[in-house]
Amino acid sequence: MKLFGTMSIKENELIIGGIGVSELKSKHGTPLYIIDQKGFEDKANLFINNFKSNTFDTRVIYASKAFMNLSIAKLVSKLGLCIDVVSGGELYTALKAGFDPNKIYFHGNNKLYDELVLAVQNRVGTIVVDNEYEYDLLSGISGEFETVTRVILRVNPGIEAHTHEYIQTTKNDSKFGLSIFDDKTMDFIIKMSSDPNIDFAGIHCHVGSQVFDENTFLKEADEMIKYAKEIENEAQVVFKELNLGGGFGVYYTDEDNPFELGSFLGRYTKHIEHKLSELDLNPEIISIEPGRSLINSYGSTLYTVGAIKKTMAGLPYVFVDGGMTDNPRPSLYQAKYEAVIANKMDDTDLESYRIAGKCCETGDILIKDASLANPMPGDLLLISSTGAYNYSMSSNYNRIPRPEVVFVKDGVSKTAVKRETYEDLIRNDEVID
Ligand code: LLP
Repeated sequence: MKLFGTMSIKENELIIGGIGVSELKSKHGTPLYIIDQKGFEDKANLFINNFKSNTFDTRVIYASKAFMNLSIAKLVSKLGLCIDVVSGGELYTALKAGFDPNKIYFHGNNKLYDELVLAVQNRVGTIVVDNEYEYDLLSGISGEFETVTRVILRVNPGIEAHTHEYIQTTKNDSKFGLSIFDDKTMDFIIKMSSDPNIDFAGIHCHVGSQVFDENTFLKEADEMIKYAKEIENEAQVVFKELNLGGGFGVYYTDEDNPFELGSFLGRYTKHIEHKLSELDLNPEIISIEPGRSLINSYGSTLYTVGAIKKTMAGLPYVFVDGGMTDNPRPSLYQAKYEAVIANKMDDTDLESYRIAGKCCETGDILIKDASLANPMPGDLLLISSTGAYNYSMSSNYNRIPRPEVVFVKDGVSKTAVKRETYEDLIRNDEVID
């Protein structure tokens, strides 16, 4: 397993944020989501320090759908990033964490009336409008609150990103945004930019997630800048912000080959500067919206090994005390992960096992083929790279409580989200006679 952030090995044991996994288990129990706070902070700073320009302001917007709770929102705010929220729930969490509303971007392809009211009431900085119906609602709400709402429009530049079909977002039949190839989109922009309740500031797109090809992002920037210029010409507006989304691919296993982010961001910025000057466009702000590439490598899930058994066909299974409820990605996207027996890190005699969870579901497999050091009941099994889209996509299937989330840094562990209890599971149940 590749070690990330502050991970190290001491006396046969995996250490994260200066704390051994057995201490984490005795303090917090398992399954446990562990966030390496320093790893995350360093990655946030890498984005801030490398995505910058002398010709425009840059914004790094954390896509909170990857991993959201009060503590991460507070940390993101402290680090100086903006935040992308995609629902009333994420928005509420950001506001409760004290996030400056001005630095919030509100996304979503079907924002509800009440969600838009919450956003306008709280003076959310930017609403990323997806379609005309939503714009109509928003314009009306802004009018009622006697305010002018800053808006950017999500568009689809039709760039094909090579990633899993479910996480591609700009195919021509994608549900997100409006196509730049549809003349009606420009008519709509012209209409929005003359609305006194709306400050039309620019456009947004997101080509997909877990994308490894650098050229996809460069091509996306080119297309978006060209379209931004057309907007300036046709809608007679000053184009202010181009938001190029997230999607930068990360390492899960040795099948993944991500580009080095720091140097990529430098090249990316230069490329954007060049294209802008070629077309004589001068937006105030260029923004990006990374989620996975900020948090994924700095999250791990710690489990306790239960039974180990061989099927009649000879397949050796290791069962853990969690499963698809805390990580649905292997069953949803055939996502692959790496694991270790975290209390046997020096053991080099590895054998192949299938790691399965405790859900009543044949597909509840976390890793099909993991190389593990002689797992025994009671051992600690850690799956790395679970920072993004694990906790945020977790469920209570089989009425399994969600694990605790702990942040570790400098030898101290702090609970960010408490472990759910059985009582939590029945909290909203009503008994009908
Ligand atoms: N901005 C927008 C508008 C997005 O839709 C997304 C992701 C992001 C930013 C952040 O993308 P990232 O940097 O994290 O790749 N549940 C899936 C991923 C879905 C991503 C949806 N949108 C998974 O587990 O792989």
